[in-house]
Amino acid sequence: MGTKLGSTKVREQLARDTGASAANALLAWYDRHRRVLPWRALPGERSGPYAVWLSEIMLQQTTVAAVGPYFRDFLDRWPTVADLAAAPLDDLLHAWQGLGYYARARNMHKCAAVVAGDLGSVFPDTEEALRKLPGIGPYTAAAIAAIAFDKPAVVVDGNVERVMARYFAVETPLPTAKPELHELAARLTPAARPGDYAQAVMDLGATVCTPRSPKCLLCPLSGGCAAHAAGIAESLPRRAAKTPKPTRYGIVFWIEKNDGAVLLRRREEKGLLGGMMEFPSSTWGSEEFALAEVLPEAPVGVPPDAAWQVLDGIVRHTFTHFHLKLVVARVRLVESAGIKGVWLPPDRFDEAALPSLMKKVARHALLAAASDPQLA
Ligand code: ADE
Repeated sequence: MGTKLGSTKVREQLARDTGASAANALLAWYDRHRRVLPWRALPGERSGPYAVWLSEIMLQQTTVAAVGPYFRDFLDRWPTVADLAAAPLDDLLHAWQGLGYYARARNMHKCAAVVAGDLGSVFPDTEEALRKLPGIGPYTAAAIAAIAFDKPAVVVDGNVERVMARYFAVETPLPTAKPELHELAARLTPAARPGDYAQAVMDLGATVCTPRSPKCLLCPLSGGCAAHAAGIAESLPRRAAKTPKPTRYGIVFWIEKNDGAVLLRRREEKGLLGGMMEFPSSTWGSEEFALAEVLPEAPVGVPPDAAWQVLDGIVRHTFTHFHLKLVVARVRLVESAGIKGVWLPPDRFDEAALPSLMKKVARHALLAAASDPQLA
């Protein structure tokens, strides 16, 4: 199996590739077929590091199509890194709504503060220095170094891994194959036009060397592609069997005042949905709970004999590492003094930059109330 760097298949492939033929073929293809993207410079030009950084942070785990409007909106509102650093964090989190994983937006704000504050608004141009900044990991550092500064950094995301696994017919499953794929990507990275090359591999992976039904007939690398020659392109990269995600369960305490305002509170800074607003809930445990078991976890100040009503149905959400099923229990209080949190009427929920899980909870609770005359 062509699974080790020293294996015959990979060695033959690399020998064939002396003279950087793959990189040259890819750059020629890029010159004709490059995608037009909002953060991408015109041919022969280079995007600035601020735009590259913004786009790369936004593109993590989100599609190119989804990011476009957000990227434009951010640049309109905050044209420079100093503008972004000066913006209140809540404005940034609000503008981030819909891109998921708010930790990225918080780190973005921290990073802007460091660049604008300590570095005179100048982004560093080396991977090593970029990696020291909040929220910039090895991939993002390499992408900024390559795209904004035209450094021969080795940029490896999922697209690049797929292209390398196929070109060199690497049959070791991911994630074990990662270091090998990185090394192979390094060997193909050219000294000339490394920024264009990095974007070319990404574009190839997104438009031609796609996960399913790769368009090998249109591929500038097909002549040297070991997986294409062996007829196994579509089956690569292999992946180790996934362990199924566990499910966690919890109960949301949907607490209303007489005027219809609902209780929200801010989550702790650290951890999942850190610093985001939420409707209070019980612990999320590995077993389903009955309401009576978790009532002691309801916010302090809610009377122990309050008339809770468990709403029909459940709210489902999936995080990276687990599925979540939440039941919503609702109560309307006559007396709300002494309960800590923020009270907002439903028509002002959008002021709270709710994460999508909490938006689902709100939709569920409001729909249940609308369809049940007893709850109105
Ligand atoms: N995906 C992640 N970064 C990208 C970029 N700079 N261009 C195109 N697709 C990408």
